[in-house]
This record gives sequence, C-alpha cells and structure tokens, in this order.
Amino acid sequence: NWNMKNFIADQIELIRNQVKDSKVLLALSGGVDSSVVAALLLKAIGKQLVCVHVNHGLMRKGESESVIEVFKNQMDANLVYVNASFRFLGKLAGVSDPEQKRKIIGTEFIRVFEEEARKLEGIDFLAQGTIYPDIVESGTKTAKVVKSHHNVGGLPDDLSFQLVEPLRQLFKDEVRACGVELGLPYDMVYRQPFPGPGLGVRCLGAITKDRLEAVRESDAILREEFANAGLDKKVWQYFTIVPDFKSVGVKNNARSFEYPVILRAVNTVDAMSASVEDINWPTLHKITDRILKEVKGVNRVCYDLTPKPCGTIEWE
Ligand code: XMP
Repeated sequence: NWNMKNFIADQIELIRNQVKDSKVLLALSGGVDSSVVAALLLKAIGKQLVCVHVNHGLMRKGESESVIEVFKNQMDANLVYVNASFRFLGKLAGVSDPEQKRKIIGTEFIRVFEEEARKLEGIDFLAQGTIYPDIVESGTKTAKVVKSHHNVGGLPDDLSFQLVEPLRQLFKDEVRACGVELGLPYDMVYRQPFPGPGLGVRCLGAITKDRLEAVRESDAILREEFANAGLDKKVWQYFTIVPDFKSVGVKNNARSFEYPVILRAVNTVDAMSASVEDINWPTLHKITDRILKEVKGVNRVCYDLTPKPCGTIEWE
C-alpha cells in the first residue's frame, strides 16, 4: 500500500542502488522542492550528497541563513555556501529591461553553479527537484511565453551528469508531506512560492542597493504581519515591490522625496490566473505604519488590486 513512509523507504533504496558510492550534486535554493530532495538524499547517502547554495544577493531576509542553519547545522549536510551577491549585482548594474534582468540572473546562476561543480571532484550525479507537474507542463506547454522562468539545466555539455529525480512522481502537496515526514521545519515545507530571480524582479527597473534593501525589509515586515494575522496560512503568495520612481511626501515637518512600496497578496490555484486577497483594513494599516516607520527611503505604501489577468503576479 502506498503511503509516505513506504515511498521514502523505496526511494532511499532506489537512490542507493542508482548512486552506489558516487557523489551527488544538488543546487539547494531553499525552496520546497530542492529542500525535500536534499533531506531525502541526506537520509539515503549522507555525505555523498554535496549541496551548493548560491546566494545571488536577491534572497529574502534571513533566507540563506536558514538554509545554512537547517541543512548544515541541524542536518549536518555537506553544504557549499557561495555568496555571489556582488557578482550578480555587478552584472545587473544599470540593466532595466525585465527580460534582460531575468536572463542575466538565470545565466549567471548557471555559471556560478558550473564553476562550483568544476571545483568538486568525482561527481557523477546531479539531483533535481523535478516534480510531476514540471514534467507534464514541459510536455504540453503551448502557451506563449510571458516571462522566461529559470531553473537549473543549461549546463555545458562537457559537464554532464546522470540525473537523480526522486520526486518526479509527486504532486506539490505530496512533496510537502514528504518533507514533513523527513523532519524538515514546517515553515520551510509550507512556504509560499518564490521566483528564481528572487527580489530582482520586485526591485523594478535597474536594481540599486538602497531600493533592494527597501524591498527586502518591507517584505520581511509584510511576512511578519501576515503571520501575526494568520494570513500566512491562508494567502497563496504575498510580497512587496519597490518601483524606480519617487513621489513627494512630508516627513518630520519637512519635504521628502522617496520611493513607494507596493503590497501584493494573491490567491490562485495554478498561477495562470489569480485574485487579490481582501486584506482587512486594520492589518493593511498596521503594515503601512510599520513600513513607513522602519524602512529607509520610503514615504508611501500602496496596495495592488489588480487580478491576473491583466496583471501578472510579479511585476516583472
Ligand atoms: P507571474 O508573475 O508570471 O508568476 O504571474 C506566476 C508565478 O510564478 C512565479 N515566478 C517564478 N517562479 N521562476 C520560478 O520558479 C521564475 O523565474 C519565476 N517568475 C515568476 C511567481 O512568483 C508566481 O508565483
């Protein structure tokens, strides 16, 4: 009979038979799928798994830290942490076109990962968090590309690995159940989706350090207040956006000329269409007050009421 315990036991055996005493490489972003793959492989082959976590400088507040805490400190994984923030931000400097930004982040991610892979020796396998809908979607995708999505893949031919994809039969809810069964923290397994290009597509136009910091800090406040209001378990995705224009305001009896923060909170089944969450006014006011008080360089907060379509969920 099929249950999660049996699934895990079966996969552990399959992985051990496939991999034998070789090493397996995994790009561990900290997202649900890669985290669950990491936990499963750790259980199956322990230190033969080499996780590489690339911090592209566009992570949310505390995100890379929690990957290190959970996988390195708590689960004793072989984890290579690469802080490539400067490199990514350098490549992105002055680039304002959204597709261009996505391409740079995707390409650079593969380059950094490739460089790390070349430094490591004796690796024959690459683990990926491919899940069932990924396979189905890539087989039937006829829709016009609105945005280029990024994931690993596109590694050069001389760097070829055999794939280990233990989650390829699972739907998302099963992946989460698997993660819980493997002892991953609830927050990690039930976290909201986060795009590959990270905060880079929420810091609109050419990314600057000050606006990126404003996106990161305001996002942290939004997440905290959503958790306080119990909305984190109810709303599918919620985040903040900082555009590349300023507006006039008044702060401490003086003129201010600073950036706005836009709040977005949506519900969806398949991300193809989405509706806006009716956040209650007291929560909206609380979030607004905190952002205006705590986030540097911000003098206005707006709530995006646009469903998808016409707006996509992300702004870029
Ligand atoms: P849009 O903005 O197209 O987003 O309505 C739909 C969902 O996809 C997420 N998203 C991404 N996920 N890589 C990902 O893995 C990406 O490059 C990417 N871009 C957008 C977005 O956050 C939303 O949940």
